Amino acid sequence: MNDLKKSQVVIIPEPVEMKVDKGFFEITKKTSLYADNGLKDVSEYLQKLFRPALGWSISSTAKTNDEKSIKLSLDDGAHEISEEGYILKSTENGILINAKTPTGVFYGIQTLRQLLPKEIESQKAVSNMKWSVPCITVKDYPRFKWRGFMLDEARHFMGIKVVKKLLDLMALHKLNKFHWHLVDDQGWRIKIDKYPKLTDIGSKRELKPKRGEVQNTEEANVYGGFYTKEEIKEAIAYAKERFIEVIPEIEMPGHSSSALAAYPELSCSGGPFKVPTRWGIFADVYCPGNEGVYEFLKDVIDEVIELFPSKIIHIGGDEVPKIRWRSCPKCREKMKKEDIRKVKDLQVLLTNYFAKYLESKGRRLMGWNQILDENLSKNAISQYWFGKVKETIAQIESGRDTVMTRYLWTYLDHPYKIISLKRAYKYEPIPKKLEEKYHFHVLGLEAPLWTERIPNEQRLYWQAFPRLTAFAETGWTPKKTKNYKLFKKKLESFLKRLDILGINCASLEEAD
Ligand code: ACM
Ligand code: ZN
Repeated sequence: MNDLKKSQVVIIPEPVEMKVDKGFFEITKKTSLYADNGLKDVSEYLQKLFRPALGWSISSTAKTNDEKSIKLSLDDGAHEISEEGYILKSTENGILINAKTPTGVFYGIQTLRQLLPKEIESQKAVSNMKWSVPCITVKDYPRFKWRGFMLDEARHFMGIKVVKKLLDLMALHKLNKFHWHLVDDQGWRIKIDKYPKLTDIGSKRELKPKRGEVQNTEEANVYGGFYTKEEIKEAIAYAKERFIEVIPEIEMPGHSSSALAAYPELSCSGGPFKVPTRWGIFADVYCPGNEGVYEFLKDVIDEVIELFPSKIIHIGGDEVPKIRWRSCPKCREKMKKEDIRKVKDLQVLLTNYFAKYLESKGRRLMGWNQILDENLSKNAISQYWFGKVKETIAQIESGRDTVMTRYLWTYLDHPYKIISLKRAYKYEPIPKKLEEKYHFHVLGLEAPLWTERIPNEQRLYWQAFPRLTAFAETGWTPKKTKNYKLFKKKLESFLKRLDILGINCASLEEAD
């Protein structure tokens, strides 16, 4: 094999530093795997990751001085890199991945994976392969600590198998926050024991037969689905093995039609309501003048935080029409009692109530930037997607932690015509006018996938990839190191890797 030039080494996201040397290390049946104390899980992950394609398992060793080994090590000269960083060094005699934390070692493994031939992604044993890794030194760590992907399962329900596949893909891209949009108007997708109707009624909507189609069973006329608590736990455990935090979103006080269809007494008018079958924004939302709403949402949150270990709980808060609140006697009464002048401040009241409630449970509230207000709890995290950048900058300057998700740049459901691959790649999360001393409050970026027009798995991958690959590079790679031309070149081979993983990507022609 010929020695590689730096430009031939394809690692996405592009590492911070990389030095390519002459020669290769080959993984063979004689190669052993040594892991320091505390790295048992990542070591097993590595074995599981490579086993299908190799057709055998790299065997563990307890000896630190094996010739021709892969060595995973904690904090042995890796002091100068951050918590998620790693140093990977491969020579003709072996591979060393060194980091301060298991997370760093895990990311080193993702890099090692990409240094191997793309066939390593195969789920079937590949014969006659030389499993060569170029001799290289990589020193690497992320630019942002929030590198997120959001999946909306309310509009279309994908199920646990797809979620696990997405978590695997996130790991490959060194993404670390899975924002799970489990509740919206068109579906409630998480079992809540205390309120069974949320899923009995709220997880189902009418399915209109397509023209010419005859559907005469009841099931054929219903679209639905939800996660049991067991499935949620399974997804969280799977994510944890991949160093991904799962952040659940329970929308309040808007986008709540599915809950109101189940419990109409939580609205201002009392209903009745159906789970909507069309997309959009709906006027009926939770009534913030009704004490029962706070009790209900607290109960739901209690069950959610029992399931999700995530420190952060997302409460939505976007697109809340105030029209019902204006004419609701209970809302009016609440305003009087709380000395609130403007109807819109009822949302601030409700958001602050849950910010405090979550804080009392050791958690932290996050919401879309429409929750912002000068009186919003200081601790709440904002997710910027739409509207006044000025307000977001002012809030960041006043100490607000913020995740950036500008909708005409990062929404994966937009057509490639609107957000081309190049535009996605060029997205810069830090607002231009934000002074450098506040940059640390920009936690990072996230790419949401809303699924109104994404009915199935194949379409989902096509919308997400390769744009999510571009966002992953922005989340990780230093701004000055990013290079679109090089990225596109790298994609030519990276997309083949995704293809072996069974991912129906948009082609480079379609994406740009
Ligand atoms: C949103 O796109 N409504 C947050
Ligand atoms: Zn009301």
